[in-house]
Amino acid sequence: MKIAVIGTGYVGLVTGTCLAETGNDVICVDINEAKVKKMQDGEVPIYEPGLDLLFHRNIAQGRLIFTTDLAMAIKESKVIFMALPTPPGGDGAADLSYILGAAKDISNLVTEYKIIINKSTVPVGTADKVKAVFTANTDIEVDVVSNPEFLREGVAVEDFMKPDRVVIGTRSEKAKKVLTDLYGPYVRQGNPILFMDERSSELTKYAANSFLATKITFMNEVANLCELVGADVDAVRKGVGSDDRIGKRFLFPGIGYGGSCFPKDVQALVKAADENNYDFQILKSVMEINEKQKTILVDKVLKYYKNDIKGKHFALWGLAFKPETDDVREAPALYIIDALVKEGATVTVFDPEGMENVKNMIGDKVEFAADQYSALNNADALLIATEWSVFRNPDFDKIDILLKNKVVFDGRNLYDLEKMIDMGYYYNSIGRKLVEN
Ligand code: UDX
Repeated sequence: MKIAVIGTGYVGLVTGTCLAETGNDVICVDINEAKVKKMQDGEVPIYEPGLDLLFHRNIAQGRLIFTTDLAMAIKESKVIFMALPTPPGGDGAADLSYILGAAKDISNLVTEYKIIINKSTVPVGTADKVKAVFTANTDIEVDVVSNPEFLREGVAVEDFMKPDRVVIGTRSEKAKKVLTDLYGPYVRQGNPILFMDERSSELTKYAANSFLATKITFMNEVANLCELVGADVDAVRKGVGSDDRIGKRFLFPGIGYGGSCFPKDVQALVKAADENNYDFQILKSVMEINEKQKTILVDKVLKYYKNDIKGKHFALWGLAFKPETDDVREAPALYIIDALVKEGATVTVFDPEGMENVKNMIGDKVEFAADQYSALNNADALLIATEWSVFRNPDFDKIDILLKNKVVFDGRNLYDLEKMIDMGYYYNSIGRKLVEN
């Protein structure tokens, strides 16, 4: 099938590459000339496991090309994916200007039937708005379809190639047929393609992400309570998650959810509810609790140092909002850095992939270490913000030598409590017994 993907951000690039992998001819379009040039030269602009291989293979076989030429891409393609940003506007509602702008440009270029697919996370009613743009600008028949993307950063390729489900919002039989063919190779294991109306499809994405954010937030609160009542959240998590109705996944407490999706989507759903005179109370609480959770590690640090960390020096392991990504958008680590520095402390950080992005954001507010151990040099304590695998089993003998004191504040519960007791650490984690030694 001939496909155009408009926008080569996270979702667009993974979508385009994975669609090429099953034999489609994919033209990816972006307005950013420098970025397109880089991709034409074979450079993958994001860190995403497994993407490199597919990217290069499909470029080499001529199925994946990059261009700034929208007219050519539209002319060549039957199916047009829009994967454009929907940042929160000033009032918290998703800003649709990129999507509606692209719809207008495309509507001026179409000369025959096309299927326009919205992959971005968009408010309910967006498909209707996009359709209205086409109706206003052209007599050519188009179907505007909602097809939200559920891929997770870090496992994006795997998620695209084997999705739990594909949600497609359209009432057009013609579009349904084309999309059943297109997605067939990805659901061979039997996972469903769920057809529904456009509005239900658009809401499904927000509801899914908001539910997951709520699930995490609930466990974060349970963890906070565990500390107060002397329970262990790891045990509670397993006890709770063994109930099939709840499930074991997404129950790990930590220092709050971050990333480019959850914070934005929860906020947008609250806003959409407000606009329809519905007070989505549970999500408002989720947002409020998550804000507090992002600096819970700093609260623990302040308590330990009796509210005075002026002149103290901390090592921070982890910047990315989660492992296996260089994405630091809304990363709890940034809030931790901010709070520590505000209190007069200095910080040296290390992250396997996220350092460049943080450097671009906060410059010399912190020191950047070459590796995880040199970050510890002369630090009063170690803080952990991201559960990268390389932090899970470190050389504690080395840590002992480098850190001034054996003090660890762990926002991701990486270490065994007994082990930390045996090694004589002060170890403060989330929802578990405080190891004071
Ligand atoms: C999410 C959705 O999972 C995905 O379906 C959607 O398309 C985009 O948003 P992503 O942002 O890549 O994906 O991250 P995800 O792996 O879902 O994690 C989100 C946040 O929740 C992270 O900050 C993570 O650290 C946190 N989290 C996750 C927890 O704190 N505990 C958990 O048990 C799971």
